[in-house]
Amino acid sequence: MHIDTSATVISNKKIIPEHYKMEIYSPQTASSAKPGQFIHIKTSRTTSPLLRRPISIYMRDKKRGIISILYKTVGTGTSLLTEYKPEDTIDIMGPLGNGFPLGDEQNRIALAGGGVGIAPLVFLALEASQLKKQVIFIQGAQCKTTLIETRELKDAGCIVETATDDGSAGFHGFPTELLKKYLEKERIDTVYSCGPTPMLKTIKKISLENKIQTYISLEQKMGCGIGACLGCACRVLVNESQGSTYKRVCADGPIFPAEVVVFDE
Ligand SMILES: Cc1cc2nc3c(=O)[nH]c(=O)nc-3n(C[C@H](O)[C@H](O)[C@H](O)COP(=O)(O)OP(=O)(O)OC[C@H]3O[C@@H](n4cnc5c(N)ncnc54)[C@H](O)[C@@H]3O)c2cc1C
Ligand code: FES
Repeated sequence: MHIDTSATVISNKKIIPEHYKMEIYSPQTASSAKPGQFIHIKTSRTTSPLLRRPISIYMRDKKRGIISILYKTVGTGTSLLTEYKPEDTIDIMGPLGNGFPLGDEQNRIALAGGGVGIAPLVFLALEASQLKKQVIFIQGAQCKTTLIETRELKDAGCIVETATDDGSAGFHGFPTELLKKYLEKERIDTVYSCGPTPMLKTIKKISLENKIQTYISLEQKMGCGIGACLGCACRVLVNESQGSTYKRVCADGPIFPAEVVVFDE
């Protein structure tokens, strides 16, 4: 883990309503980042808010030493991020977390993301394409105007599908329904997902029904981000006899096999 107090903002642009893309110059972070990992950002130069905010790595350019993040403004911290201008320094910690497993056994993979949850999946899709994996990328959004541009994925050879809740673009329905259709007709080795909790619950159900290896990225409010404060605990199943235990989303996750995650009812 690395703290870069002098990372530099290269650009910070609104791309669709409430969603921004920020490019940050931080060569060490860019060279060591793995898909699914996140950075913990000090959003303010004052002590308020005190806690850093976790944001996934969306893309990286190793050669230029740049990482990108995609963030949605939902409160104080993410709103403060919008005020950063090119050449401002920004205090980031990372890359943190475990990242998505991606090995020889994963040749044909399906990625399903909801809303801003597509961020870590875009990084995964681009890396997987470089490794010559076949990638089906399903983006879910409320409507056409909240879809994130995915040109880079198409250029990289990924099959890109969209699903909108209101049917204004692509498939009319949830990305999970589109994923089910793919699983019915094609062999998929592994599913990866990130998005709102109701979506992840459905992904877990699909994973169990289809007996397909599935990894999900969990979101939890965080404190330290490095496994020390236990503020980000989530419940996971150990086995039938031992029941469940708690894991830290920041250090043991944020990626977990879907079948072990215990969601609150
Ligand atoms: C590993 C990880 C990766 C993430 N990656 C991204 C990303 O790539 N892009 C992005 O936009 N967001 C991402 N998030 C969520 C992001 O961290 C929160 O939206 C952010 O911390 C909210 O801070 P805030 O000060 O703006 O909002 P606050 O004022 O703290 O809260 C506003 C609202 O957001 C909810 N919230 C706060 N923190 C979280 C959280 N960690 N997870 C879910 N809901 C939260 C609160 O319950 C509240 O309803 C990620 C979270 C985790 C744990
Ligand atoms: S945020 Fe402190 S242990 Fe995870």
